[in-house]
Amino acid sequence: MNQFKKTILITGGAGFIGSHLVRLFVNKYPEYKIVNLDKLTYAGNLDNLKDIEGRSNYEFVKGDICNQTELQKIFSDHKIDNVIHLAAESHVDRSISNPLEFVQTNVIGTVNLLNTAKNNWNIESSENIFYHVSTDEVYGSLGEEGLFLETTPYDPRSPYSASKASSDHFVRAYQETYGLNIKISNCSNNYGSHQFPEKLIPLIINNILNKKPLPIYGKGDNVRDWLHVVDHAEAIDLIFHQGKIGETFNIGGHNERKNIEIVKLLIDLVDEKLNRDKGESLNLITYVKDRAGHDQRYAIDAEKLKTNLGWTPRYTVEQGIEKTVEWYLNNMEWVENIVSGDYLNYYENQYVDR
Ligand code: NAD
Ligand code: DAU
Repeated sequence: MNQFKKTILITGGAGFIGSHLVRLFVNKYPEYKIVNLDKLTYAGNLDNLKDIEGRSNYEFVKGDICNQTELQKIFSDHKIDNVIHLAAESHVDRSISNPLEFVQTNVIGTVNLLNTAKNNWNIESSENIFYHVSTDEVYGSLGEEGLFLETTPYDPRSPYSASKASSDHFVRAYQETYGLNIKISNCSNNYGSHQFPEKLIPLIINNILNKKPLPIYGKGDNVRDWLHVVDHAEAIDLIFHQGKIGETFNIGGHNERKNIEIVKLLIDLVDEKLNRDKGESLNLITYVKDRAGHDQRYAIDAEKLKTNLGWTPRYTVEQGIEKTVEWYLNNMEWVENIVSGDYLNYYENQYVDR
């Protein structure tokens, strides 16, 4: 007899958002078993979860969502009854240089996971939920006006967003065709601790620290709608527990900023905290060749989530970014380990005999 009320497979739990979600669930729901499945690609880092790794309701499994045999074994061994799926290739620039890897992980991997869930679950049971974590980028690019609604037609424009859009379609198709109980959320740009330093905010913080050029694509006037990662994790928790089966929810912070504004905010904060002269790092700003097919503006209408489930974000950009800068300044070693590749050595030492 299973001692746990639910056994939830969280995929991609060693990544940025996944690790925040795993931590939230392990701490908040001791009655659930959380199985974290992660391939530990360059973006996966078990250091992100050091504080919870010994917990009795937590288990890490190294594995690949593209491998059907591995997935079946995990479902059988752990009696998985719910899935929250975050594993993905997540960086737009990498999708431009290697689109096939994004098809493999984000599309094929998701379909493998859907198949495994379908084959192992009682389709009639509302106790078995497949929750797919997706992105606002599936809706395309906005001009100066307008917001993305759940009903906005899909218009993905990068290989990354095309692969995420495709995975969303497959998730909905599994509900229509096989009756799988699904939920989807589409979230705007996240920031916070433990984000891999290839993404704008941690990359800029790290470069200011090291007095390296701050690369701004194009004119720096592209707009993103920033949400603190803890707000995202809490929204997922709410939707997982209270969202209606089959529904989609947009998640966003109403925190639109131009990239150049974010970079200048980071310069102010980092210079101040390092006791540098005000504006000292402004001369590091370097405008570089634009990203191919660079989406101009993303902005989420999260009214449905607010009205239906009462969710609003806790952090403003100013509060959340200050907290994030403090985390990076206090955890420089975390960044250095990743950047230098030391993390791979850590993993070998940690798991060599298992
Ligand atoms: P991330 O790149 O930090 O983490 C992805 C994780 O998935 C890593 O731990 C990696 O090792 C794992 N992974 C990759 N391929 C795998 C495979 N084949 N099998 C098992 N694990 C694999 O990504 P993130 O920023 O934390 O994003 C998580 C999810 O949220 C993604 O699905 C992404 O599309 C979505 N999302 C991200 C944002 C954002 O701003 N970062 C916003 C909205 C939605
Ligand atoms: O909107 C949600 C998406 O947000 C997620 O689905 C993706 O997984 C996540 O990576 C993020 O995508 P973006 O492309 O918006 O994030 P990124 O941090 O790469 O870039 C943010 C903005 O900053 C974008 O307009 C490009 C710009 N940029 C980025 C980098 C890395 C720069 O100007 N210079 C840079 O060096």
